[in-house]
Amino acid sequence: MPDDPTPAQIAVSPDNPCPFLRALVVNGYVGGHIVPLPKLSGTIAMASGETGLKQKMVQIETWMVAVIANGLSPARVIKSATSGAVLDELRNGPLDKHGAGSRILDVDAHVHEDEIERLAGFGKECRNPDGGTERGLTAKEIDTFMAANMKRAGAAAHWYYPLLMKGEWPVLLKILGKGDGDERYLSVAEVRTLFVEKRFPDRIVARLPKL
Ligand code: HEM
Repeated sequence: MPDDPTPAQIAVSPDNPCPFLRALVVNGYVGGHIVPLPKLSGTIAMASGETGLKQKMVQIETWMVAVIANGLSPARVIKSATSGAVLDELRNGPLDKHGAGSRILDVDAHVHEDEIERLAGFGKECRNPDGGTERGLTAKEIDTFMAANMKRAGAAAHWYYPLLMKGEWPVLLKILGKGDGDERYLSVAEVRTLFVEKRFPDRIVARLPKL
């Protein structure tokens, strides 16, 4: 059963476990099933806020992740490259870490608030460039969080999971982060909005195509 959408949102499959892709689907930027890789990687490149060559790099990196997301067999990779990634069949695919991630979303794509609280526990009060402070995680704290997630998964964690993780929370920090340098942080409030409401902050929406 897809998640209950709010009226303005499109339903997204629980078999899409990626919070970023879920928000892209729910808000209509990409379809929920087969999405051609130029469309998917192009949309993510726009969301990144990069321009020129850097934006092209984001697009290429995303393409490389998406092309193996539904399976590693040569036939599947060719199919992904030519027809697209199947976003409602990502669960149990090569990128699924089976509980070695944050566990904010369970296998039915329900949000676990206690896991958001756990994530917040790795962070600290950060200086918001727009004024005041808010709870957030810097790159260093995200590293600690990811290492703790691996440890929690114990024997179920594979050696290559940290490589997959590099494309998740650290990339989210890059795209959604506030502030610069070592002080750049991922706002826990915005992570909650992304997972729970499947919404991007306005400054990210502004980078995406007008719908
Ligand atoms: C800028 C682009 C992206 C960002 C910022 C992003 C971010 C994330 C984050 C933060 C998680 C959550 C990990 C956790 O709960 O610990 C995640 C999970 C996941 N992402 Fe993405 N993602 C992006 C692109 C993609 C693409 C292109 C695909 C594949 C087509 C993908 C597939 C997945 C999958 C399968 C998971 C679940 C991993 C698991 O449960 O272990 N993501 N992503």
